[in-house]
Amino acid sequence: MLPLPPTYRPQSTLFIKDFPGSFKFNQSELALDKVNHCDLGVISHRQKPNSFTLFSIDQTLTNKATTMGEVDPAFIQELEHRPKLSTSEAEGIPLIDLSVLNSADAEPDLQSLVSEIGNACREWGFFQIVNHGVSVEQRQKLENACREFFAQPLEEKVKVRRDEVKIYGYYDREHTKNVRDWKEVFDFSLQNPTIVPASTDPDDKEVVEWHNQWPDNPPELREVCEEFAEELQKLGYKLMELIALSLGLPPNRFLGFFKDQTSYIRLNHYPPCPAPDLALGLGRHNDSGALTILYQDDVGGLEVKRRSDGEWIRVKPTPDALIVNVGDIIQVWSNETYKSMEHRVAVNSERERFSIPFFFYPAHYTMVQPLEELTSEKNPPKYRPYNWGKFLINKKVSNLKKLDVENIQIHQFKIQHTA
Ligand code: OGA
Ligand code: NI
Repeated sequence: MLPLPPTYRPQSTLFIKDFPGSFKFNQSELALDKVNHCDLGVISHRQKPNSFTLFSIDQTLTNKATTMGEVDPAFIQELEHRPKLSTSEAEGIPLIDLSVLNSADAEPDLQSLVSEIGNACREWGFFQIVNHGVSVEQRQKLENACREFFAQPLEEKVKVRRDEVKIYGYYDREHTKNVRDWKEVFDFSLQNPTIVPASTDPDDKEVVEWHNQWPDNPPELREVCEEFAEELQKLGYKLMELIALSLGLPPNRFLGFFKDQTSYIRLNHYPPCPAPDLALGLGRHNDSGALTILYQDDVGGLEVKRRSDGEWIRVKPTPDALIVNVGDIIQVWSNETYKSMEHRVAVNSERERFSIPFFFYPAHYTMVQPLEELTSEKNPPKYRPYNWGKFLINKKVSNLKKLDVENIQIHQFKIQHTA
């Protein structure tokens, strides 16, 4: 007989059938998952159908069950997508020094930097940058304001809640691939208002404005966010120039696409999670914009799927570095010379984590397609053109809800070439 966690004692007896295979509990069969050398049981409550209790079985103490806390099943990942407790930390993700950009030279020699960036984009789709010119002091001010904002009670935060009309603001129910993420966010755009199509209907030419919402507290949040956005935008343009050069294009090749940009910045708060091996802070996904520049604090949790073998690799926090990754749009523009890699965020039971991504997005009227200069008869375009604004609103609205269908992805525009 298994000693029951205290919460179960009054309800029933739990006994083992073929330990560690399955359990019988109130006549119902319960699966016991093998997760990372630790056996976890999941029990659904009769009285509380929306919550599961997790418990671990310590085999050495012969069948003692310990409650681990309650987690809403909406957060629980399918077995194959659960994070490992230990992942290798990437030495592999390139660390690139941008100091040559700040040199006093009118025309600094960019050649070796450009080839480093090209290699990183080809091999990883991810790299970290140092000496990037974004002031540490400014970033710290933003980080402090961000901590203060999320530390407030929910009643305060929901005053700037995001919904289907107010697209930017606070939100704590995001789903990625229909599983809920263990996080809360605050979004604001760089252009206020941001102009986007009114509907997903391809023939509807009407546009609407998306406006930012700012909380009363902390009072300095708006200013520090706007200053940070300015800096990140400058860096985004510089990186797009370097990426253009690395593809053999003129440095300004991409700049025009961002004239009426739809870029935004997100403040992410990942609270400690009682079941870090079942839930994710952010499920696996690819970033759909052109480029993402992310600041992460010293906790760690970002994992990248390595292109060479599909292994999940933890991106080790490097003080004051920023992480850059290629988004789906660069994958399309470069006709897959560069690939946008899948990534996700693991959480932990002890420390909360903060991260701040900047999503560099083009104007809504951009038709995204492989650049003519990068395609040929031998290397025909791998994608049909798609309208960025229509794609964006489709995704924004579907991310607000848990859907039964997969939300919009670039593979829907892929052209199948037969050899
Ligand atoms: C994202 C993302 C990573 C992180 O928001 O798209 O990948 O570390 N974030 O928060
Ligand atoms: Ni991402």
